[in-house]
Amino acid sequence: MASRPVEADGRDAPVPGRGHARELLYALAAIVAVTALYAAAASQAGRLPAASGLVGHGFGIAGSVLMLMTATLYSLRKLRSDARWGSTAAWLKFHMVTGLVGPYMVLLHTAGRFHGLAGLTMLLTVVVVASGLTGRYLYTRVPRSPETMPRRRAFALWHLVHLPLTWALFAAATVHVVAALYYATLQR
Ligand code: HEM
Ligand code: HEM
Repeated sequence: MASRPVEADGRDAPVPGRGHARELLYALAAIVAVTALYAAAASQAGRLPAASGLVGHGFGIAGSVLMLMTATLYSLRKLRSDARWGSTAAWLKFHMVTGLVGPYMVLLHTAGRFHGLAGLTMLLTVVVVASGLTGRYLYTRVPRSPETMPRRRAFALWHLVHLPLTWALFAAATVHVVAALYYATLQR
């Protein structure tokens, strides 16, 4: 029988290699649906919805909520090793889907404008997503055996990059949201 990877504490480790690219398919389906919604709104308005308008805000808020879920739910599930609400592998898949769809909605929110801190926040978002995809690529190639220690070390190093980038991203996003709401929305 093929053995399932087990972490040092005896728990099953996430196995993203299984059902390999399924999460990418889910993400793609959601992205197509979101694009259709956005295209309908744009054609009705006769232009790209502005970031500060109803549709633009909607996409920015929904995308940000998905990104927040990406950054928290999988970690929470990992902390609760005795939890019954879904396997860590399933939550990692969820992480990858919301980690792609959320940033895509936020990209639509920008309406193609990337000035100032908001632009920097978008750039950080793209970098985090790119590093996520890189991590997944490394991760699916980490069989749990002693001779792969260099690869496992590389993955630990990758964690050291991905996490601070996430914090920087949400710090910038918080400032952007507070400033945008204050200047572009409430001061009108
Ligand atoms: C990670 C999440 C987000 C990113 C990366 C992001 C990024 C951006 C970008 C690049 C712009 C265009 C700036 C320009 O005009 O060049 C923008 C505009 C704007 N964003 Fe966001 N945004 C995010 C979330 C949000 C959220 C959650 C809200 C509201 C609750 C929001 C409110 C606004 C508003 C009101 C504007 C228009 C600003 C103006 O017209 O001066 N954003 N955002
Ligand atoms: C908004 C975008 C994203 C944010 C904020 C984000 C954030 C994070 C955070 C905070 C962790 C650490 C979880 C932990 O160990 O407790 C993590 C891990 C990870 N992320 Fe992301 N991520 C994003 C997008 C993605 C994407 C698009 C992918 C791949 C398609 C991805 C793949 C991974 C992988 C493979 C791990 C490591 C899982 C593990 O070591 O257990 N992430 N991410």
